[in-house]
Amino acid sequence: MIWSPESWRNCEARQQPVYPDAEALTAAERELGAYAPLVSIAEVDALSAALAEAQAGRAFLLQGGDCAESFAEFSPANIEANAALLEAMAARIGNASGLDVVRVGRMAGQFAKPRSTAMETRGGVALPAYRGDIVNAIAFDPGARRPDPERMFRAYAQAAATIVRLRARGGFFTSHEALLLPFEEPLVRLDPASRRHYASSAHFLWIGDRTRFPGSAHVEFARGLANPIGIKCGPSLEPEMLRRLLAILDPGRVPGRITLIARLGHDRVEGALPSLLRATAEEGHPVLWACDPMHGNTVRAGAGHKTRPLDLILAEARAFFDIAVADGAACGGLHFEMTGQDVAECTGGGVAPGAVDLADRYHSHCDPRLNPAQAMALADVVAEALSPLPAS
Ligand code: PEP
Ligand code: CO
Repeated sequence: MIWSPESWRNCEARQQPVYPDAEALTAAERELGAYAPLVSIAEVDALSAALAEAQAGRAFLLQGGDCAESFAEFSPANIEANAALLEAMAARIGNASGLDVVRVGRMAGQFAKPRSTAMETRGGVALPAYRGDIVNAIAFDPGARRPDPERMFRAYAQAAATIVRLRARGGFFTSHEALLLPFEEPLVRLDPASRRHYASSAHFLWIGDRTRFPGSAHVEFARGLANPIGIKCGPSLEPEMLRRLLAILDPGRVPGRITLIARLGHDRVEGALPSLLRATAEEGHPVLWACDPMHGNTVRAGAGHKTRPLDLILAEARAFFDIAVADGAACGGLHFEMTGQDVAECTGGGVAPGAVDLADRYHSHCDPRLNPAQAMALADVVAEALSPLPAS
């Protein structure tokens, strides 16, 4: 198939909302097509170069932020607090490892969420699942849950305002899951100089664990972009499928192009990671291996809130870096969900199991995030794993 920004439309697009008003969707896509790029081509290329350094073992990717950004939590204070936490983690890891730390926010566009079911049923009433503020609203009522293309404009505006703040701090790149294709496609821009297409919604885009299957519209979309691309690698990913994805997404084996984000779970990382590492090593494919110790460690707390025990998060991170360092793999990245607010969403590190059931400290619109103390505990684990051994 010849790639174009819309060639994904010939493939199976999972996890997309069903917009009741198709004309409104088309009109919104057309309008977005005239919007200014949120990121510049030079910045995207700079990130690719920085990730190539990480692949060569000279830099470290630190990628974190909200699971889902929300309209309700948008405030200058929140953006600054998230950025400050990422900077503090970067300083900890950079000082211990001696590596340059490349800071990439799950920020300024991380609005769309994959869901395990298309509909949510409560008390016999079935409504469309909440798919992130860029699609619909979280309240369980028919009006709120109706997918509305106008929400893409508010998401764009919030992303633009966020990026202005991050640029002012310096040294930040942005990223999100390229899930909502009717939003991503109109923001693709052709670079007249190189004749390459760039996503202009963020510097770095990743493909989620639920949308990286054979025949996927999301893989087709990412294939033709010049941006660095991440692939979430969950426990169902077989080494052979990983090889195929690499051949499709990076046939030219471009340094900095592919980051593989392992999110296997504390109990599966030891079983699954070595064969995936072997697959990329045998191919000789330049990739960066990053650890997402969050998404394989989600459990339900007493009253039904999703939570993640810090112990399990730290255990997966330790196991990942032990295995990858011993293997000699380019294991230069950490991908995680955190917030600069003092929430009680993950348990441990000072948050008692019962605390997550109290709504006043649980604000996530999707998955539970690390609070600042918990995030620094994760940074400590990574710093320790990457510290050079003392010369003897
Ligand atoms: C996420 O990063 O929020 C997410 C949904 O991850 P995954 O695709 O790995 O489940
Ligand atoms: Co998440």
